[in-house]
Amino acid sequence: MSYVLPPLTYAYDALEPYFDKQTMKIHHTQHHQTYINNANSILEVYPELAKYSVEELIKNLDKVPINKRTFMRNNAGGHANHTFFWNTLKTGTTLSGDLKMAIARDFSSIEQFQKEFEKTAATHFGSGWAWLVLQGNKLAVISTVNQDSPLMGEEITGNLGVAIIALDVWEHAYYLKYQNKRTDYIQAFWHVVNWDIAAVRFSRKT
Ligand SMILES: [Fe+2]
Repeated sequence: MSYVLPPLTYAYDALEPYFDKQTMKIHHTQHHQTYINNANSILEVYPELAKYSVEELIKNLDKVPINKRTFMRNNAGGHANHTFFWNTLKTGTTLSGDLKMAIARDFSSIEQFQKEFEKTAATHFGSGWAWLVLQGNKLAVISTVNQDSPLMGEEITGNLGVAIIALDVWEHAYYLKYQNKRTDYIQAFWHVVNWDIAAVRFSRKT
């Protein structure tokens, strides 16, 4: 068994004009596929690892031989993070219900949450991800380096939490349309967050 690129549930141009068609297509078919190909190259050599889902594997990186662990952390992490990200995107949904109330409770207001998320995403140095996570009963904004995921646990990421939404802040996610203007890309994200799936993720854990 090996990892397979999951098809998007929407067209590459579905998130226009916020996330453009060309970036979405390259990001999905090239960048994501490369993480998968790299991770599969390890599964071929260590087929016993193939019994785990990618999420289980990155939760348990100690199962990967030590000399391949960083490679798998980066590439299985890349596969898991991008799969999560594609599912986090959709136009036309609205933040509402229990998740909206919890965000307002834990960040003082929705506006304050957005500011904190934007600042974390904008000031993350280099490549990585910004996340809204549930830590215990409290929501928090964190960032991770490279392809690290909150699923990898505190020892690796320095943060624990269950991911609710994520934003890819690698340049490959925005450079074609936004060049060096990462903050414009972050602003565009608010138009394409799938708050419906975020609410489902939140309700499963509360
Ligand atoms: Fe990416």
